[in-house]
Amino acid sequence: MTTMNVLFISIEGNTRSFLTRLTAYARQQHSFDDSNPLIKTKEITDQTVPAKEKEPFFAFVPTYLNGGNGFDSGFTELMTNALGEYIDQGKNADQCIGVVGSGNKNFNAQYCLTAKKYSKQLDAPFLADYELRGTDEDIQRIYPILAKRWQEAVNN
Ligand SMILES: Cc1cc2nc3c(=O)[nH]c(=O)nc-3n(C[C@H](O)[C@H](O)[C@H](O)COP(=O)(O)O)c2cc1C
Repeated sequence: MTTMNVLFISIEGNTRSFLTRLTAYARQQHSFDDSNPLIKTKEITDQTVPAKEKEPFFAFVPTYLNGGNGFDSGFTELMTNALGEYIDQGKNADQCIGVVGSGNKNFNAQYCLTAKKYSKQLDAPFLADYELRGTDEDIQRIYPILAKRWQEAVNN
């Protein structure tokens, strides 16, 4: 039985809500066909004790930026640093096989920029994005993207 691991951070609860629904959707898909993987999530907060990630994982990253336009005048990452620091510990970064970003399109060019930055820094593909809490369509769209990537990266 395959279980995909997800690390995430959620300041206002949108990412947590999305992943709770995505996990339930995975459970349903798994009950239809047990080759469909389940999802196990781990929320990282400022209180999370550093640990070694022994298995591959996806990182779900909301965007909290302050200042600049994100491109030529720089920006500061706010509130999501605990996730970046957790992944930077030891060899955890080597286990990241993909990044999913979320944000709000009102931020224009800064939309999902933190996840794009993680993708580059971790040399892990940027797999998908969604806005705010995400819709049912987002869940149906993103689940197979994760399952395919997991299959390619882990099961082969
Ligand atoms: C102070 C603040 C700054 C934000 N900055 C950005 C941003 O630069 N780009 C973006 O796409 N979304 C931005 N957002 C939107 C959040 O990424 C979005 O609401 C996300 O769903 C929050 O996830 P969470 O509820 O799991 O913390 C910002 C939200 C806040 C409150």
